[in-house]
Amino acid sequence: GKTSGIRMNVASCPSQDLAKTNRVFVNIGDGEGLGLGKAAEVHVDLGGYVYLAKVDSRVGARCVGLNAVQRRELRVALGDELPVSVVRAGSIRPASAVTMEVDYTTKRTDPIEIDAMQLTELVKSRLANFVASPGQGYVIDFFGTNLLLKIASVMMEEVVKRASLQESTEFSFMKAPSSAIRVKGSQTQKREIFKADFSFERMGIGGLDKEFSDIFRRAFASRVFPADTIKKLGISHVKGMLLFGPPGTGKTLIARQIGKMLNGKEPKVVNGPEILNKYVGQSEENVRNLFKDAEDEYTQRGEESELHIIIFDEIDAICKQRGSTRDGTGVHDTVVNQLLSKIDGVNALNNILVIGMTNRKDMIDEALVRPGRLEVHVEISLPDEQGRQQILRIHTASMRDNSLLEKDVNLDEIASRTKNYSGAEIEGLCKSAAAFALNRQIDFRDIHKAVDVKQVTVRHDDFRNALTEVTPAFGIGRDDFENALLGGFIHHGVRMQDIVDAGRGFREEVQYSQRNPLMSVL
Ligand SMILES: Nc1ncnc2c1ncn2[C@@H]1O[C@H](COP(=O)(O)OP(=O)(O)OP(=O)(O)O)[C@@H](O)[C@H]1O
Ligand SMILES: [Mg+2]
Repeated sequence: GKTSGIRMNVASCPSQDLAKTNRVFVNIGDGEGLGLGKAAEVHVDLGGYVYLAKVDSRVGARCVGLNAVQRRELRVALGDELPVSVVRAGSIRPASAVTMEVDYTTKRTDPIEIDAMQLTELVKSRLANFVASPGQGYVIDFFGTNLLLKIASVMMEEVVKRASLQESTEFSFMKAPSSAIRVKGSQTQKREIFKADFSFERMGIGGLDKEFSDIFRRAFASRVFPADTIKKLGISHVKGMLLFGPPGTGKTLIARQIGKMLNGKEPKVVNGPEILNKYVGQSEENVRNLFKDAEDEYTQRGEESELHIIIFDEIDAICKQRGSTRDGTGVHDTVVNQLLSKIDGVNALNNILVIGMTNRKDMIDEALVRPGRLEVHVEISLPDEQGRQQILRIHTASMRDNSLLEKDVNLDEIASRTKNYSGAEIEGLCKSAAAFALNRQIDFRDIHKAVDVKQVTVRHDDFRNALTEVTPAFGIGRDDFENALLGGFIHHGVRMQDIVDAGRGFREEVQYSQRNPLMSVL
């Protein structure tokens, strides 16, 4: 549905009044090229966002006039070049629901109250046929006050990247984080699921940004919408998800920290083995108890109930394939059954999200991971180089804050040399480096002599030494390799040499290649 793009230079919006129409402007000559001869306005794609374009004689040739909000969301300055292409209006489907963040356009701190119904009417009349994507902003004159409305999410049957705003679209509003505006009469108000100011790195979780955005998009996005909107649309929320991946990659860490990024109820975190109890029926009762609060609140408040999150760490301990345990008692099976019936019950509940974590996805009972149950699967894999940099920064933060980290420490280099290390192994590496630094200070002739703590600074060499002490579980087993070579090889000829060379190449690939995230030579 797109014609090939032409490049245009960014100009300012021709007038203050036009800025508030939230359209973009081109001159008459360029307008004809875009099909503006016949139509009064057309949809154009500008750097990934879709806008409604109109003709204005004040705009120069090969220029597109953008207001300040549009320039900000596109991250462009006056004079920058942008590709402009026409978007066929029919190619974009109507949004079923949209949430917008409401703020002042200027830095104002006086509180005002905005009525969501009135705002909905204004938005429907001023933004009809606009195509909206998350991140796009609009200026609306709300009875004399200029408001900035920023798209938070757009939904059709599920969350989408863009859709058009229509009479049938359900609008909900929430105040922008830290804005003094209050929006009354909008149920989204209660559903600000995430704390406004959380950051993964501050929570001590490194290298999982992509995984997190996956988790949020798939499990939480639909929960931002008011309950009655969801009901009208006949959408059901994701009820469960499974985080899986190798040991030491941060699954338990996420379980412990997830409460810190969410508003509302603290999640219940239980460890799989904790649930199991040797007394008959007790394990099943433990499972039932976990769901009790959510059920009670749902009975009382229905769809208004807050979200209850239940996290099962090491869920493989309780959800092994049924019939797989050898003791023949079947105790395990009944626990799995109990959990399944609770999760299926959630169908009627809608206020529960169950998150299971495991490093043995292969062991999990298949019935548990079917659609409608723990249906969203997110892999928490070994960190890539950038992730390792973040994790190194996290685990050296306290050394740095106390000025115990020497200037010569190059975390980027360490990150590049720690391929296949898990988060836990990188933490171990930092501890080991600190131990090397301590050792340097100990006078072995007089071990009682006090160590001057200010002297215990960690150097790059300490990390180099640590690299030989802490090695990753995945990837090359250096000792095995060296042991196998103890007696050396007798090179019988070209074929033998080829095989050894191939083996060495393989080993290098495992150790250094940036392309293969997980591979090992056994
Ligand atoms: N992504 C990460 N960012 C920062 N630290 C990490 C990360 N991953 C692991 N760590 C460190 O390693 C420790 C152990 O990790 P964690 O217990 O979360 O691993 P896990 O994925 O639950 O492993 P397992 O599958 O064996 O249970 C964490 O407490 C943390 O200090
Ligand atoms: Mg764990």
